[in-house]
Formats: sequence, C-alpha cells, structure tokens
Amino acid sequence: MPRPLPTRTPLVDTFGRVHTSLRLSVTDRCNIRCFYCMPAEGVRFLPRADILSFEEISRFVRVVAAMGVSRIRLTGGEPLVRTELSTLVAMLRDIDGVEEIALTTNGMLLGQQADGLKRAGLDRLNISLDTLDATKFERIARRSGFDQVLEGIDAAIAAGFENVRLNALAIRGETEDEIVPLVVFATSRGLVMRFIEYMPLDADGAWQHDQVLAGEVIRETIERELGPLVPVERSESSQPAVDYEFVDGRGRVGFINPVSEPFCGACDRLRLTAEGQVRNCLFSTTESDARSLLRGGASDEELEQLVRDSIQKKKPGHGIDDQTFLRPQRAMYQIGG
Ligand code: 5AD
Ligand code: SF4
Repeated sequence: MPRPLPTRTPLVDTFGRVHTSLRLSVTDRCNIRCFYCMPAEGVRFLPRADILSFEEISRFVRVVAAMGVSRIRLTGGEPLVRTELSTLVAMLRDIDGVEEIALTTNGMLLGQQADGLKRAGLDRLNISLDTLDATKFERIARRSGFDQVLEGIDAAIAAGFENVRLNALAIRGETEDEIVPLVVFATSRGLVMRFIEYMPLDADGAWQHDQVLAGEVIRETIERELGPLVPVERSESSQPAVDYEFVDGRGRVGFINPVSEPFCGACDRLRLTAEGQVRNCLFSTTESDARSLLRGGASDEELEQLVRDSIQKKKPGHGIDDQTFLRPQRAMYQIGG
C-alpha cells in the first residue's frame, strides 16, 4: 500500500481542523429515486462532458494527497452506474499518500461489480439498506430493486470485503418498525448496522425537522428489544459514527446523528462534486471551480491554492438549527453523501 507522503503543508481551516478525507462524487446519476435525495421524475442529469474524467479526478487526488488527504470515499449519485469504476479505483490506488479507498453504494450493482472492485483495490464498502420490506423499499426508492440489493450484499461478503457497513436512513414514520429486523439481519451476517439521521438535502425540499428520528431514540429501542449496548472506543475522533457493541456479543450497531448531535467540530472532510466543484461542507452554499482549472491548463500549485482557499472559508458547522439556515442549492445526489 502506498505510504502517506504529504509533501505540502496540511490542509487546516481557521478552526484548526485538519482535512485528511475526501468525498469524491463520480456521477449524479442513480438507478433508483430515494425520496430523501432525488426527485421522483424528470431529473436533469449532468451532460457527460461536464463530468470529470478519471484522469482529471486522479490529478485532483494527487494534489490533495500531497497535502495529507489520505482517505477517499467514492459516492454519487450511485457510484456504480459510472462506467468502469474499478478502473478509477485502481488509478487512485497508485497515488502516493492514498491509504484507504471506500465506497458508498445502494448495492444494486454489486452483484456484478463486487469482485472487480475488490481486485482493483477497494478497501471498504458501505451499502444503503433502509428496510427489509420490499414494498416499503419501493415506496422509499420509488423504483423496484430490493432483491438486487440483497444479492449485492451477499456478493460483497462473498468477494471478501471486511467490515461491510449497512446504512439505514432513519425517518420518523418509516424506520421504527425496521430497527429490530435490520439489526438482526446485519449482526447475523457479521455486518455493522448504522442509522443515519435524515438531513435537509432532499431534492423535493420536503424535509421537516419532525421527520428526524433521533439516533438516541433508535438506540433505546434496540436496547429495549435486543439487549444492552456499550460504546466502542472510536478509532478516530473525526469519524461521524458512534458505534456500540452488544453486551451479549451479538455484534455492533452505529449511529450517525448529524442533526441531534452535530459532529462538525471534528470534521476532516472536503468534497469534490462529479462536475469538479470543491465543497468544504455538505451544506455549503458556495463552491470552488476546480474543473475550470483542470481544463484550463492550471498548475498543481493553482489547484492547491483553490482547495486551500475553499477550506479557509469553511464555517464552524452546518447550522441546521439556526434561524438563518439556508438549504444548499444542491440535493444529496448532486453533492455526494
Ligand atoms: N439525509 C441523510 N443522509 C442521506 N443520504 C441520502 N440523502 C440523505 C439525506 N437527506 C445518504 C443515504 C446513503 C448515502 C448515499 O447518503 O442514506 O447512505
Ligand atoms: Fe440514489 Fe443514493 Fe440518492 Fe438513493 S440516496 S436516490 S440510492 S443516490
């Protein structure tokens, strides 16, 4: 594995947060239409020419890796609808300083791609699974595909991925009945089930605060129904998830509580959208245009400066609960989760 090789000074913002992690969106397209992310119909996807090529992405990653960004997560849209994604994984693997490459996927195409991704050097997988009820899946995703997701999870395990995590978006009125079945499903396969609070990033702009099912409420349900949990020590303080272990050894569950317990103070993440815009936060209302530099013959130093300027402008937190909170112009599928 390539060693970390920061040859430039680290990417530190005005609050002292060191940025070592990159969320890289490779497409805004998706094969389903989850209501918390995408519009149901009539999505206007980016034209192909607007999307960064693998070469452009790799150059960007080389520049930020030199500043100490060592962990990459590929997202979308649905990253596996991008043709030949495993080729990009292999290209990123060869970059000095890149220590870990992870992928967030809805799982539908893993049946075909899990083996190839493993061979290309992908380290870790998060698979979205909001429900074990096929009818509810179709209501949430507004498309069919539940069986394909289950096949995808099996394929990931069979391909030899370790520490596969299943992510459920927690929504009041939908998730309560899923909590116990999902935890039992995950732990019986040796996987970690994680619950993520619903954030105001849906394309329909319908998010309401009272739809957020707090992680703490889910944890109480799990303890009541399945037995006591104890916190697991965090491997890294910047990690958004808080993991717990069942006292009876059944396995682990985790909670990502951006709304009820914001973790912005420890954020180490920057983002690059599919069309090459640098974002310093999921909720930022401004972006920095790396694509123009990549396509305009700019030097690595100019790219470096663009990223540093973006991080300099990073706010202390998302401010979802502030009076002045403004939703970003983009929805989740246009940013990258
Ligand atoms: N709030 C929180 N998480 C979201 N995701 C998509 N939309 C939202 C939202 N509005 C998550 C999905 C998936 C990942 C790609 O992003 O649950 O796990
Ligand atoms: Fe697709 Fe993921 Fe958005 Fe669902 S959350 S519509 S799977 S990009």
